Amino acid sequence: MASSSSSSSSSTIFFGRFIDAPSANDLRIRTGAVLVSRKDGSGVIEKADWTVNGPNDAASKLGVEAPVVTAGEDGFFFPGFIDTHIHAPQYPNCGIFGKSTLLDWLETYTFPLESSLGTSASPMWANASSPDPLARAKTVYSRVIARTLSHGTTTASYFATLSVPATNLLADLAFKKGQRAYVGRVCMDLAETCPHYYRDESTEESVANARASIEHCRAVDPTGELVAPIITPRFAPSCMTSTLSALGDLAREQDLRVQTHISENVNEVALVKSLFPERNSYTDVYDHSRLLTPRTILAHAIHLSSEEMDTIRARQAKVSHCPASNSALGSGFCPVRDLLDRGIDVGLGTDVSGGYHPSILDAARQACLVSRHVGFVRGGDSRYNVGVTEALWLGTVGGAKVVGMEGRLGTFEEGMLWDAQEISLGRDVAGGEDADVDVRDGGVDVFGWETWEDRVAKWLWSGDDRNVVRVWVGGRLVHELKSR
Ligand code: GUN
Ligand code: FE
Repeated sequence: MASSSSSSSSSTIFFGRFIDAPSANDLRIRTGAVLVSRKDGSGVIEKADWTVNGPNDAASKLGVEAPVVTAGEDGFFFPGFIDTHIHAPQYPNCGIFGKSTLLDWLETYTFPLESSLGTSASPMWANASSPDPLARAKTVYSRVIARTLSHGTTTASYFATLSVPATNLLADLAFKKGQRAYVGRVCMDLAETCPHYYRDESTEESVANARASIEHCRAVDPTGELVAPIITPRFAPSCMTSTLSALGDLAREQDLRVQTHISENVNEVALVKSLFPERNSYTDVYDHSRLLTPRTILAHAIHLSSEEMDTIRARQAKVSHCPASNSALGSGFCPVRDLLDRGIDVGLGTDVSGGYHPSILDAARQACLVSRHVGFVRGGDSRYNVGVTEALWLGTVGGAKVVGMEGRLGTFEEGMLWDAQEISLGRDVAGGEDADVDVRDGGVDVFGWETWEDRVAKWLWSGDDRNVVRVWVGGRLVHELKSR
């Protein structure tokens, strides 16, 4: 369907249809060519030309002889998705949550699985004779990276586990497989709320372990361009006040990214109130520990007061909207429109495995659906509706803002990184009443008369990994669909 020529050259020309969403209401559809150079190893769009009208025309218009990669006529290049919140060790539990809600879900499903990757002190090992927890971590982490790449996720902000060796392994694997990844060793140490088999013993141990994994990430990728560390207090209820403060200091001292959860579930909010009676709100707990910075990612942000939103906006902290998880765990509706209207940057997260699926395309779809429920419960106001373009913007440009890569990721412009996916919508439906369905063509039926805007909408609503033909990160090919 698509053609490419290989060469050892450090430049590649990409020709075809390019679609991106530079703003919430602007779906940009262009045909042309871009020149991607990997001379300095980073894979940047050096030149773009939107007057090129064929692969043979590309080299002369761009003024360079380089191999040409062509997107199929039935598809387009789209910016890679950015998953702003995903728990790598929870991937085996996707879909396994029963009727639980956040706090019992953590106890029943999540802590046993997480602790089983990297240590042998887990209830999951009770009946196993000689567990090799690191081998298990390797299997899970390799798979979640490969799987998210296959769904077009070129950047992921990962929570790992408490285990430093297993967290370091996640950084190694992301680097090797070429996914852009922020890797966080999870900190949790409050004895009242953390299981005895899965917690740090003290603030000193939490901070020392955080430092160890930060150093490892920096050794893996000294540029921090592909793999970088991120400070990861699990959430306020699992951390001692002294630990939150120490991690806030560490973030400031080393100018590091921070990720955590906030205001996801009403029982969790009540727990924070009882654990931190001296603080005004959940947001105030983090603010007091200097954990709210422009480099902070707050997952969920469902039950925030107006004052809390104002504080988050003032600190320029970012929000990861995780609609699939919020529905699966019955956490509630995140009022995305209110956050955006206040000027808070929002991206999308799968929140695997609170979220049941590793695809950001699915998260975009769920963001559209949930927004309509928000509008419904607020008197039927369609102002809350998130549209297709806006959802795709959240999954790309929004995500780039949330992970601190605005202007470098999310759209196709000169100077930006070539983190991209090639989408194919498959053959047009033909054959009248005898038309066969070939599931390998994917789930989107295009009849041929749809506009490209309509085809993108159909992709959002019924596309999946069968439509993701190839994926590049920083100009490096990191995934290729095998089944066609
Ligand atoms: N709050 C604390 N830990 C978690 C987690 O692992 N997932 C979700 N969704 N919320 C959390
Ligand atoms: Fe989460």
